[in-house]
Amino acid sequence: MKIGALKESYEGEARVAITPSSATHLQKLGHEVFVESGAGARAGFMDSDYERAGVTVEKTAADLIKAVDVVAKVRQPADAEIGQMREGQTLISFFYPAQNAELLEKAKEQGITAIAMDMVPRISRAQKMDALSSMANIAGYRSVIEAANNFGRFFTGQVTAAGKVPPAKVLVVGAGVAGLAAIGTATSLGAQVFAFDVRPEVAEQIESMGAEFVFLDFEEQAQDGAATGGYAAPSSPEFREKQLAKFRELAPDMDVVITTALIPGRDAPVLWTKDMVEAMKQGSVIVDLAAEKGGNCELTVADERIVTENGVTIIGYTDFASRMGAQSSELYGNNIRHFMTDLTPKKDGVINHDMEDDVIRGATVAHDHDVTFPPPPPKVAAIAAQKPKEKPKELTPEERRAQEVAAFKAETRSQVTMLAGGGILLLLVGLVAPASFMSHFIVFVLACFVGFKVIWNVAHSLHTPLMAVTNAISSIIILGALMQIGSGSAWVLILAALAVLMAGVNIVGGFLVTRRMLAMFQKS
Ligand code: NAI
Repeated sequence: MKIGALKESYEGEARVAITPSSATHLQKLGHEVFVESGAGARAGFMDSDYERAGVTVEKTAADLIKAVDVVAKVRQPADAEIGQMREGQTLISFFYPAQNAELLEKAKEQGITAIAMDMVPRISRAQKMDALSSMANIAGYRSVIEAANNFGRFFTGQVTAAGKVPPAKVLVVGAGVAGLAAIGTATSLGAQVFAFDVRPEVAEQIESMGAEFVFLDFEEQAQDGAATGGYAAPSSPEFREKQLAKFRELAPDMDVVITTALIPGRDAPVLWTKDMVEAMKQGSVIVDLAAEKGGNCELTVADERIVTENGVTIIGYTDFASRMGAQSSELYGNNIRHFMTDLTPKKDGVINHDMEDDVIRGATVAHDHDVTFPPPPPKVAAIAAQKPKEKPKELTPEERRAQEVAAFKAETRSQVTMLAGGGILLLLVGLVAPASFMSHFIVFVLACFVGFKVIWNVAHSLHTPLMAVTNAISSIIILGALMQIGSGSAWVLILAALAVLMAGVNIVGGFLVTRRMLAMFQKS
């Protein structure tokens, strides 16, 4: 098939849907790639770069649309763009179908298949196509850079000959994709970072990134804020009041506030009120990532940077991803080519639009002269969807003690049964097997038992480092096997060779895993 990227018609948009590097991947899927002349210029990709990657450059948007089967874009299509498309063509871009009913109708009338990149479901298999997350990640990073640019002081604390500089205090409200990216960037710049989210389960992620979770002592936090499909649920007015009181307490202390709080399908909640802005120090900066949905800060003006009377800068830009055009085009281009990989399962350049596939179905908003939005819920559970945990019943000290005794008794009973069973089995084997076999067999059984007990009690998350440690045990196995390999018996030889092979695989695997683990902590 032929796939081509249009030059974005939206004023100031710097991103492009296909980059020279993503074009190479698309070609490997058997597709021919096209771009409109100048499509990548604002992201730093010249027509000549595309030509070097084997991409055909078309002069105008009309030429491109005529030449291709699949039109790729970043922003939702303009009326004129969709008007030029013909029946059977596929459009792949952000679409926001819930807000664009008319555009949907137009796609249906013209018989266009429209794939909305903003509708890719948040399931683990689809992470590589999740364009909203890619863009939010960039926006989170850029929000900190923008804040640092507008903040008249260092982010990191310093002790210099001229005096001591305290680190900047940064508060991140909402620790989703953008919030976590902001936390990572601010901590790496040396700031002292605080973060708040209604989902208490993100506290661990926040802390693992070096920030401090702002804890709210409120019962409902664990209930109403629980995640559904990776997103938060709205909180009650009482919770909100408590949250605002906490923010009011923090406001005079914070130098930078980055707000990213959002519940999909709703206006952004107002969490940073006028009085909080007034309570902030002169020179402080607020970056409101939710500006497009009304803003988390009461004073935010979308797409503008304003300075309040008390000298607080409030940034409400809604195009952070576009401000890093080269980076966001690379990531968005990758999202698109991963989607095309799913659409081209045989890598033969033939698109198979499988409406039974969760991801393809979820993102397809118009198909075959029909509006296919909203999609049915995906068959697989969303990544972060968790059943709300039932709160354990409060126990009296007597009940707790009785429960512990019962658990201890049950465990002892099962261990005694296992030992007795094992003992009887050994006796039975001992009745028929030679004595020399038995001494080895008992050592073998004990080794299995001890090994099982040790590994069973190691948390799942530590199995990878455990594998690295088992290298030592594998070397002992290899030594033992080498001592046996010269024996005259064919059986012993085969078993010893197998032991060397398997322990060898374990050792090589252990080294590879260790290397990967170390690489995670290395800065390239
Ligand atoms: P997300 O859904 O991953 O994260 C939002 C977070 O806000 C969630 O963790 C949620 O629990 C939290 N939240 C919801 N209500 C809250 C409340 N009342 N108090 C505290 N936390 C609350 O969303 P993502 O992808 O991180 O995007 C965040 C925002 O950034 C969105 O508004 C999105 O539209 C915006 N965005 C802005 C861009 C720009 O250029 N300005 C570019 C990309 C995204």
